[in-house]
Amino acid sequence: MARIAIIPGDGVGTEVMAEAQRVLRVLETDPALALGWDVLPLGAERYLEEGTSLTDEEFRSLEEDYDAILLGALGDPRVPGNEHARDILLGLRFRLDLYINYRPCRLLHPSLSPLVDGGDRPMDVHIFRENTEGHYLGGGSVAREGTPHEVAVAQDLNTRRGVERIIRAAFEFARARDLAALTMVDKANAIPGPGRLWRRTLRDVAEEFPEIQAKAMYVDAMAMDLIRNPDLHRVIVTSNLFGDILSDEAAALTGGMGLAPSANLNPGRHALFEPVHGSAPDIAGQGWANPVAAIRCVALLMENLGREDLAQAVEDAVAHVTARGIKTPDLGGEATTSEVGDRVAARLARALDTSGDVIQPRGA
Ligand code: NAD
Ligand code: IPM
Ligand code: MN
Repeated sequence: MARIAIIPGDGVGTEVMAEAQRVLRVLETDPALALGWDVLPLGAERYLEEGTSLTDEEFRSLEEDYDAILLGALGDPRVPGNEHARDILLGLRFRLDLYINYRPCRLLHPSLSPLVDGGDRPMDVHIFRENTEGHYLGGGSVAREGTPHEVAVAQDLNTRRGVERIIRAAFEFARARDLAALTMVDKANAIPGPGRLWRRTLRDVAEEFPEIQAKAMYVDAMAMDLIRNPDLHRVIVTSNLFGDILSDEAAALTGGMGLAPSANLNPGRHALFEPVHGSAPDIAGQGWANPVAAIRCVALLMENLGREDLAQAVEDAVAHVTARGIKTPDLGGEATTSEVGDRVAARLARALDTSGDVIQPRGA
């Protein structure tokens, strides 16, 4: 039995995770898939009430008792510093050593591209974001805070081991998918220290993958080229911060933040799936959030459990419903979060040839 911990979190995280669970209930009807899940009430609400973000006991349980974590989003305007989000989300990434942040951005339907000819040149890019180092470690210092002489320093930490393992993961993925090219993205012209390390490591690892054409690009050029040539980039490997930024951009180029899933992985050990988007306080609580990114996280989870067939079935169901115009307002549609979830679950149930009554009523 695969045990899953679901952390809906804050804002639209709770809304989209409800739809992800409906999809899980349909998938559960597959006789060969044994699933069980618990919903954990971690997030801003509990942090504000109890002052607790993630206890040691909860961390131990997430580490030992579950095969995967599904997370909605964390972030709440009532917690201005978002300490709870850092403790839970970044805490889990670091403490479970989830060094791969895999963010696939694939255009689901030509009409979703915001580019004039984007539908004719569909994006299908796989971003490998380093997830345990870089600017995210919190290293640095602040001096003379609040004075005119304030100094704030943040460190960009890159280790050979950390850089090598994410670059190797990207190459292995490219090889497994028969993708002929890989691009490493950095800013070696302005920030040469990390740049030299990333480029030397790229060259070394590339020798093990002679069939894959590897090159390096500066991040500003890549930000531009994703827009100019959305279909030309297939595998991108980059640092934590650049990966964060480029994955929002790539998500927008496939139709928006509501569509992009991600997997935080330490292969064979731990996996955490979450939409690329955040808690979207501007639309939270209204029932209009797009659940597609969260549902596609379920597809990534199925892939991780070795069920590519079910992953594909979820992707197909989402693509079908989107093509039929059942879309939330961020995509120009008029459907609610739960309408999209309903339709995807129903389509999936049909595709899996299960009877309609396996879709439990809402709130069940
Ligand atoms: P955001 O992704 O929450 O929102 C950016 C824009 O995208 C907003 O206009 C929002 O309405 C829209 N959007 C996002 N998700 C959507 C969805 N499912 N459907 C339709 N529209 C959607 O980013 P933000 O506003 O910068 O951050 C809000 C909070 O979320 C912050 O506290 C931030 O730190 C946090 N955050 C959390 C995560 C995470 O938990 N993985 C990721 C990003 C941001
Ligand atoms: C993401 C988010 C997080 C990040 C924030 C909430 C810390 O933007 O998952 O992309 O920067 O990694
Ligand atoms: Mn981000």
